[in-house]
Amino acid sequence: MDINKEAIILTRDRLNFHTLTDNFPEQKTYVGDARNLDLIEDESIDLIATHPPYANIISYTKNSNHKEEGDLSKVHSVDEFCEEMKKVAQEFFRVLKPGKFCAVVIGDTRRHKHQVPISFRVMQSFLDVGFILKENIIKIQHNTKMAPLWEKMSIKTNFLLLMHEHLFVFRKPERGEKLSKFKESMKWW
Ligand SMILES: C[S@@+](CC[C@H](N)C(=O)[O-])C[C@H]1O[C@@H](n2cnc3c(N)ncnc32)[C@H](O)[C@@H]1O
Repeated sequence: MDINKEAIILTRDRLNFHTLTDNFPEQKTYVGDARNLDLIEDESIDLIATHPPYANIISYTKNSNHKEEGDLSKVHSVDEFCEEMKKVAQEFFRVLKPGKFCAVVIGDTRRHKHQVPISFRVMQSFLDVGFILKENIIKIQHNTKMAPLWEKMSIKTNFLLLMHEHLFVFRKPERGEKLSKFKESMKWW
């Protein structure tokens, strides 16, 4: 699912491959807003894999009116982005089967020589709605289109380049699962 029709067209193209099994499940895609997964029933999904915008770092729609149409890359601030991602997390929590996993790829950025920890803010949004963190996998990410520009700035103003993204793997607790021991041991909840 994606808010942008062009992303869905691209996805359909990528899904057009042959498999060795006859009973490969039907691939369904649709244009829609991840904050409202109304076509998906409660606790019906085995695995969620998502790659949201990194707040407004890269715009995914040319049209500035897309904010009204739900493009999360059109937010004005990281605070606003995290509020909206919390709605996404709530929907993911609703549709995921208990005990199953939700994987989120997300990265950070830098402003005025300092890091903006978008990833950890988003992670907190997922924890806030009831997910627990299974893994935080560091994915090496460099050689991007913007890398040469960042490299120049890093030498000029003295900062380390961001060369990774996070792949957070969350788990929805089982129905009635006792988390008290886990929470108690960390004293962080
Ligand atoms: C980082 S790209 C990921 C694209 C693709 N899914 C991938 O992993 O290659 C972020 C995508 O989020 C989409 N997006 C933005 N706001 C959304 C929303 N409210 N609901 C669903 N998708 C949204 C954008 O259109 C964009 O395609």
